Amino acid sequence: MSTNPYPLGLRLDGRRVVVVGGGVVATRRVPALLDAGADVLLVAPELTPALRARADAGRLRWVPRRFEPDDLDGAWLVQVAIDDPVAAESVSAAAAERRIFCVRADDRTVATAWTPAVTRHGPVTVAVLGGGDPRRAMTVRDAIRDLLGARKGPLLTPAVEEGSLPNAGGRVALVGAGPGDPELITVKGRRLLTEADVVVADRLVPGLLLDELRPDVELVDASKIPYGPSRAQEEINRILVDRARSGALVVRLKGGDPYVFGRGGEELLACAAAGVPVTVVPGVTSSIAAPAAAGIPVTHRAVAHEFTVVSGHVAPDSPASLVRWEALAGLRGTLVILMGLKNLAAITATLIAHGRSPRTPAAVVQEATTGAQRVLRSTLGAVATDVLAADLRPPAVVVVGDVVHALDS
Ligand SMILES: C[S@@+](CC[C@H](N)C(=O)[O-])C[C@H]1O[C@@H](n2cnc3c(N)ncnc32)[C@H](O)[C@@H]1O
Repeated sequence: MSTNPYPLGLRLDGRRVVVVGGGVVATRRVPALLDAGADVLLVAPELTPALRARADAGRLRWVPRRFEPDDLDGAWLVQVAIDDPVAAESVSAAAAERRIFCVRADDRTVATAWTPAVTRHGPVTVAVLGGGDPRRAMTVRDAIRDLLGARKGPLLTPAVEEGSLPNAGGRVALVGAGPGDPELITVKGRRLLTEADVVVADRLVPGLLLDELRPDVELVDASKIPYGPSRAQEEINRILVDRARSGALVVRLKGGDPYVFGRGGEELLACAAAGVPVTVVPGVTSSIAAPAAAGIPVTHRAVAHEFTVVSGHVAPDSPASLVRWEALAGLRGTLVILMGLKNLAAITATLIAHGRSPRTPAAVVQEATTGAQRVLRSTLGAVATDVLAADLRPPAVVVVGDVVHALDS
C-alpha cells in the first residue's frame, strides 16, 4: 500500500464542503474554506462564538444537530473536526460510500485526504505535507515562509490588486508604517517593502524598516525635499507618478495610517489622475497607539463611549481653523490631539472657556512605541505648563478625558 499523497489544489468556489464539528478545530479550518469560496455546511450541536458569528453573518450554513449521512449529499469534500472516534468513523463511512474525500482531525491515518501546512504570498500558495507528521510539515512551511518573506520578485506580486486595474507595469502602494515600533507595520505592508523598487519615506517612519531594505532599492527621503510644504507635496506626487510610470513598484511609506493627517488622499488622487494604480495599506495610527502605549485605552466601558481625533496644528482662533473647539469642549468622551504641542496653551484655554473642566485628566505621549517614549500625566488646566516644564517635544499625542486614569489600580 502506498502512503504517498497526491497533491492537488482544490478549487472550491461555490462547491459544498461539509464540516462536522463546531469546536476549535473547525474554527481553525473554516476560514480557509470560506476564503476559497466554498459553500460551507457546518453540522454540530454547538458552535464556538467565532463560528457562530460567521453563521449569523450568513457566511456559512449551520445545521445545529449531530451528523447524519444525508448531510453529505451534494458535497465535494468533508472535514471531520470532532474527536469522538466512533462518530468520526461514521462520517468517514458515509463519505467513502459517496466517494467524497474525508479529512480526519482525530486520526489522520484513516483519512482519505490530508490538509497541508500553508503559507500564502500574494498569488502564491505553498502547501507542505509532512508525510503524515504535521509538525514536520509546519517546520518546513515556516522555513519556506521565511525564505519567501525575504525575497523580492514579480513571481510573488499579485497580478490584480483590489481596487486597481490589471497592471503589467509600475504601481504605487500607500503603506501605513505604524507609530514607531517597526513591528507595528502590517504583514501586507512589510511584504510590499520587501518587493519595492522605490521607497518614498516620511520623517516619522520607523528607521529600522528602512534599514531592512535591499541595497538596490532607491530610497527617497520625503522630509528632505526642499521648497516648503505645498511644493514639496507636488514634488512627492511627481516622484510617485514618474517612478511608477517607469515600471517600478513604489512604496509610499507614511507614519501611522496614511489617511490620518497623512495627505494620503492627495497622493492617491494625483496617482489616479495620472492613471497609476494604487493600493492603500492602512496602518496603526498614533492617535490610538500612542495612548495605548502609555496604558490609556481611548474608550473604556462606563468611562468613555466616544473618542475624537483632532489636529491641533492650526490655532483655535485662526481663521484657517476647521475645528469647532467650543463644540469639542461640550463632549464628554476622549479627545486625542495630534500635532498639538505648539498650540497647547491656546487649545486647553479654549476647551476650558467653553465648559470642559480644568480638572479633566490629560496626558501627553511623546515618541510613542519607540525606545525614546515619554509620558506625562496632568490635567487639562495644567498640561500646557507641564509640557513646557518637562520639555516635551513633537511628535507627541495629547489625550484628554477620564480614560487617562481608567487603568490605574
Ligand atoms: C502629520 S501627523 C501624522 C499622523 C499619522 N498619519 C498617524 O496616523 O499616526 C504627525 C503627528 O502624529 C503624531 N504622532 C505620530 N507618531 C507619533 C508617535 N510615535 N508618538 C506620538 N505622536 C505621534 C504626532 O502628533 C505628530 O505630530
